[in-house]
Amino acid sequence: MDRVDDDRVTRRRVGDAEARRANRGWWDADADDYQAEHGAFLGDVDFVWCPEGLREADARLLGDVAGRRVLEVGCGAAACARWLARQGARPVAFDLSAGMLRHAAHAAATTGVRVPLVQADALALPFADAAFDIACTAFGAIPFVDDSAALMAEVHRVLRPGGRWVFSVTHPMRWIFLDDPGEGGLVATHSYFDRSPYVEQDSHGVATYVEQHRTLGDRIRELVGAGFRLLDLVEPEWPAGHDGTWGQWSPLRGRLFPGTAVFVTEKPA
Ligand SMILES: C[S@@+](CC[C@H](N)C(=O)[O-])C[C@H]1O[C@@H](n2cnc3c(N)ncnc32)[C@H](O)[C@@H]1O
Repeated sequence: MDRVDDDRVTRRRVGDAEARRANRGWWDADADDYQAEHGAFLGDVDFVWCPEGLREADARLLGDVAGRRVLEVGCGAAACARWLARQGARPVAFDLSAGMLRHAAHAAATTGVRVPLVQADALALPFADAAFDIACTAFGAIPFVDDSAALMAEVHRVLRPGGRWVFSVTHPMRWIFLDDPGEGGLVATHSYFDRSPYVEQDSHGVATYVEQHRTLGDRIRELVGAGFRLLDLVEPEWPAGHDGTWGQWSPLRGRLFPGTAVFVTEKPA
């Protein structure tokens, strides 16, 4: 999301019901543009963790996936789930947005790699306890919910003991800068400790887009609180020769400080 600064933008607490409505509407409306802009970078059958281009094929953060039941959380067009299926995993992909899932269904038809697609909210998973061996997401769902501790607890519930939960999010320290890939994005303008979400709203003050911030400590606290063990925190470096930009992610900023945090966790056996 490219943050904009005008009178439609504010910082205020937004509960989960208002955030769900806002984000479902926003992702439904933006799905075509998002795929047009980022679809080629993400691939049709590929698992890219972040704008830095780290791929699961190289990083292997999920461990061995063959034969494993894998849940892709906030899957968007579900390229990761299709890649997992190609590796012999048994993925299920879900998203809040019907617009994003339409792209997932279209890509299934064009690639011939079909995975079960479910429309659901990450705060209320329609899956049984211990139904999955692995859960993962690249930038899905987590930044868009108010009660992210409850999201972690839901994922914990649907994982079997010994299961792994790996997710990427915008690196929390990016919160202090403007969403500017250039020089303007090198100047700290906002407190790292201010958790009030970034909100875009309509002329009636109703939220149309909500993005949440948690510090690194907050994330670790909510993971540990849900019962997970932290195995690794990966901060992908900007690779030499990668000249692309993705919103506020750019070579200029990527060379100086991290843009993505990938949390690698497990539910103790
Ligand atoms: C940045 S996209 C990430 C999707 C995909 N991994 C990608 O890289 O394109 C964020 C996704 O999270 C989904 N999302 C937002 N809030 C959600 C929620 N509460 N439950 C499930 N999915 C949600 C959005 O609909 C969107 O498809």
